[in-house]
Amino acid sequence: MSAKVALVMGGGAGTGRATALAFVAEGATVIVADVNEDGGRETLAQVKAAGGHGLFVRADMGNSGDVQNVVAQALGMFGGLHMVSNNAALSATSKPVTDLSEDEWDRCMAVTLRGVWLCMKYQLPLIEASGGGAIVNVASVSGIRGEAFQSAYAAAKGGVINLSKTVAVEYAKRGIRVNTVCPGGINSGGMAFYLEKMPEMRDRAFKAHAMGRLAKPEEVADAVVYLCSDRASFITGHDLVVDGGIMVRSNVIDL
Ligand SMILES: NC(=O)c1ccc[n+]([C@@H]2O[C@H](COP(=O)([O-])OP(=O)(O)OC[C@H]3O[C@@H](n4cnc5c(N)ncnc54)[C@H](O)[C@@H]3O)[C@@H](O)[C@H]2O)c1
Repeated sequence: MSAKVALVMGGGAGTGRATALAFVAEGATVIVADVNEDGGRETLAQVKAAGGHGLFVRADMGNSGDVQNVVAQALGMFGGLHMVSNNAALSATSKPVTDLSEDEWDRCMAVTLRGVWLCMKYQLPLIEASGGGAIVNVASVSGIRGEAFQSAYAAAKGGVINLSKTVAVEYAKRGIRVNTVCPGGINSGGMAFYLEKMPEMRDRAFKAHAMGRLAKPEEVADAVVYLCSDRASFITGHDLVVDGGIMVRSNVIDL
């Protein structure tokens, strides 16, 4: 991936940080965009410590001006853009669907679904002008099978999967592949915080995965970078489940 420019939206922690470092390990230059300046700058420091080149840009994935600025920085600083992981998301508090406020629904959608659309809207023209490339949007198994008490998040992630398939077709003959990665539980971000606060849920969360554990952020990052690489040159419009066997596990038989 040397001579390629990669962008990670939400690269300031967890899976996004691991993805930035995985791109660097493949030789790419990496732009880290995040709403959290401290996290983003820390990722950039780790990129540089790993011998990589890159840039941090403060950006809210739900804000059009910020998203356009990231794309402008990619063009201005590195002359183009080839690979993107749209990784950031915002979930709402866990609660029954009728208890969710209209504001909570809108805030979740603004980043988790509309944000991914906004990103692609402004990233696609630059990727095409740069000679083509690949986008991986990070969805979730919640977007495939639903998630009780996470109606907004599950609906948004389902939207990300279908949006990605749609854009994959629109750009299939224009040199840009578009896929999603659908993780199960990742030992990062909201999940790590939740399990620390509610240790009684830990066992149940681990057991939901056939492999009996959560993913390391690096395991999801590797799937993202693979889908961006030339090794995945005939893969587009795919949702790649990276879930330690959540989707195939039987809840009846306890192995
Ligand atoms: N953690 C899990 O168990 C899990 C499971 C399935 C899917 N996912 C998905 O994987 C992705 C990464 O999750 P994670 O747990 O590694 O994340 P994380 O919480 O560790 O990191 C997310 C990063 O995104 C940034 N961010 C948040 N809102 C942003 C915004 N509006 N604009 C720009 N940056 C923003 C945060 O500052 C943070 O640096 C998300 O899309 C999430 O929905 C996570």
